[in-house]
Amino acid sequence: MADITERLEKARAYVAERAGLTPKVGIVLGSGLGDFASRAKIVSEVPYADIPEFPQSTVEGHKGQFVFGYLGSTPVVIMQGRVHYYEGYPMEDVVMPARLMGLLGAETLLLTNASGGINRSFKGGDIMLITDHIAALVPNPLLGRNIDRLGTRFPDMSEVYDSVLRNAVIKAAEELGIDLKQGVYCQLTGPSYETPAEVRMLGKLGADAVGMSTAVEAIAARHMGLKVCGISLVTNMAAGISQTQLSHEEVKQAADAAGKKFGDLLEKVIAD
Ligand code: 6GU
Repeated sequence: MADITERLEKARAYVAERAGLTPKVGIVLGSGLGDFASRAKIVSEVPYADIPEFPQSTVEGHKGQFVFGYLGSTPVVIMQGRVHYYEGYPMEDVVMPARLMGLLGAETLLLTNASGGINRSFKGGDIMLITDHIAALVPNPLLGRNIDRLGTRFPDMSEVYDSVLRNAVIKAAEELGIDLKQGVYCQLTGPSYETPAEVRMLGKLGADAVGMSTAVEAIAARHMGLKVCGISLVTNMAAGISQTQLSHEEVKQAADAAGKKFGDLLEKVIAD
């Protein structure tokens, strides 16, 4: 197979020709949050299935296309559905979409996801602004030969989630009357949810919420020098904290239920 630089260039050339705008902001929509794209003045849609070299998402509840459009006056590219490590792709493919958005011109990457709450002051339906992450339990997406064209071999990660963007989210939440939580997001591979013992472990390690995405995309984006913002929808409390069993159906239902609040927040942050 072609190396990642060549694959990225093939994908970029294909998508750039069909985008119809140069995005300022890239937005990745997590499980159940895909409806957000309908808030944009849509210019074009590019299905992942049509993009050369692009990994195909297989999870139900993820639509699988780039949507180009405007939120307010901001040109954006929205990913309806992402690729997860648990689907079996190499990490290089998992972060290819994030890199592609950077190569298309996005200067900011706004990552969203659904997560399980570990911090006991959280409850299902809460929105958590990601202040930092723990990615040390999954393979680093920058493993292998460095792509010097994208960034440096040993990128700094002392402020992955940009403080200016974080303040903008805090302000938007205040204006909307949303009780915004903040905390550390831990990415695991999934696809199984955690055991109660694992959730206790993660709490001791400093995690406030746990999920199966986002941190590796944030690393790849920081490698390229993009500004990153992360917002998590805590769809449920993690195992052992909640006594009820977890299912993807329930996660999607909870995401649907909180979708409007979440969308209002995203829209205010980007469009204003
Ligand atoms: Cl409890 N765990 C993980 N890993 N991901 C989730 C979740 C829990 N709830 C929603 N997404």
